[in-house]
Amino acid sequence: MVADGEETLILDLLLKNSILSFFLVLGVSVLMVKSKTFGGNGVLYPIIGFVLCVAFIYLSFGDLWMNIHVDTAKLSFVERNGTQFIVDGRPFYFNGWNSYWMMDHAADEFRRGKVREMLQTGARMGLTVCRTWAFNDGEYNALQITPGRFDERVFRALDYVIAESRRYGIRLMLCLVNNLQAYGGKTQYVKWAWEEGVGLSSSNDSFFYDPSIRRYFKHYVKTVLTRRNTLTGVEYRDDPTIFGWELINEPRCMTDKSGDTLQDWIEEMSTFIKEIDRNHLLTVGLEGFYGPKSPKRLTVNPEIWASDVGTDFIRNSKISTVDFASVHIYPDHWTHNPDFEYKLKFVAKWMISHIEDGDKELKKPVMFTEFGLSTENADFSPAQRERFYKVILDIMYKSAVKNKSGAGSLVWQFLVEGMEESNDDFGIIPWKRQSTYRLFTEQSCKLARVQGALSTQINYLRKLCSL
Ligand SMILES: *[C@@H]1O[C@H](CO)[C@@H](O)[C@H](O)[C@H]1NC(C)=O
Ligand SMILES: *[C@@H]1O[C@H](CO)[C@@H](O)[C@H](O)[C@H]1NC(C)=O
Ligand SMILES: *[C@@H]1O[C@H](CO)[C@@H](O)[C@H](O)[C@H]1NC(C)=O
Repeated sequence: MVADGEETLILDLLLKNSILSFFLVLGVSVLMVKSKTFGGNGVLYPIIGFVLCVAFIYLSFGDLWMNIHVDTAKLSFVERNGTQFIVDGRPFYFNGWNSYWMMDHAADEFRRGKVREMLQTGARMGLTVCRTWAFNDGEYNALQITPGRFDERVFRALDYVIAESRRYGIRLMLCLVNNLQAYGGKTQYVKWAWEEGVGLSSSNDSFFYDPSIRRYFKHYVKTVLTRRNTLTGVEYRDDPTIFGWELINEPRCMTDKSGDTLQDWIEEMSTFIKEIDRNHLLTVGLEGFYGPKSPKRLTVNPEIWASDVGTDFIRNSKISTVDFASVHIYPDHWTHNPDFEYKLKFVAKWMISHIEDGDKELKKPVMFTEFGLSTENADFSPAQRERFYKVILDIMYKSAVKNKSGAGSLVWQFLVEGMEESNDDFGIIPWKRQSTYRLFTEQSCKLARVQGALSTQINYLRKLCSL
């Protein structure tokens, strides 16, 4: 199903052409010999042969041209007009996915092929946005080894991920740090400050309020945003392949339930990013819980604890330097109720509530940046997971049809074969199950019928959706 890359595709094409050419030439020769032997019309057969040849060359080069066209189509920045994203002057609603592991895999020669395989598969599924980590603090294949020290080899891996995405017309949501411990996260920053004797506290929440750690993070952000890609020559902040920046994956600040600490951090960091980069849109990376400043919305939260984690979807997303809101969808982790039908109802209510916030309160787009159903549920089945996905994709589609703020959904998470070590209880290899694959490709086609295809998508969609 998946070729190694565009080169393979073109090679394939040339090989097929050679084989076909051989038979064509053979066919024409036989016809000419026959026409001589039997004294038939000596002119007609070569003419038929010639017409076939021309038709054939047109078809092959038409194909080749399309592939090259995909590679060089001009990309523009994603913009915002009120509650909608805009690409090339038109509203942009999207179907996309998460592959957090791309930079890490691209850093090792023997695993780099997975990145291209995934991006190519995504493009063929008509997907247009991929969310991935632009950080790895202090772990294996660390981008930032210690504060301010970067591994050029890993930076080149991120260069590669961006350049490859460009090639397949995929835009990247790049996340800048983790609240969780995977790939370092805020805990690693706190450890660094502690080791250098400048840390104020050993609490991992000091990531948000310790002035030394804020300086570390700003230095990191500035280095990434002003990085000049060694493969394309374009600085990250000037590269339209990047959809936008996400400050932090799933922030929580349990030690300040009022939410003031996190609010202050978001204000400072988003302002800092805007000073460096005026091209790209920016979001926080929230899970979407309502906090004490949004009392009317508290009943939408999955459970009581959710208003006590130091975040508030509306207050945090309202900050003027935050361009759009982000929400995750994980009923398995968030509620104690194991009933699947209950979870579906929660998901619908959760999404509709946040889309309404986007339209009425925030007047900004809302992106569902992660959603998944766990294989660890007692009653788990792939068919059940498809029902879960479908509820989400359908609400997204309705939002697109009605020009609402629900702007796109990114499934957590897609992998390719042979990388179990990067999987969790949510990962899927999209082409392993036809019905799941079709669910996502149909969403791509439905969205394209509403808003038209992007220039970068058109050739993939032509094959996929009979546009
Ligand atoms: C922006 O939105 C307004 C109203 O929502 C609309 O009238 C206008 O045409 C939009 N502009 C673009 C460039 O889409
Ligand atoms: C933060 O620290 C607390 C207390 O030490 C710990 O329980 C928690 O797992 C840590 N969280 C993260 C995301 O590192
Ligand atoms: C949504 O917006 C598009 C383009 O801006 C417009 O053509 C379409 O009629 C709108 N649909 C609705 C239901 O308002």
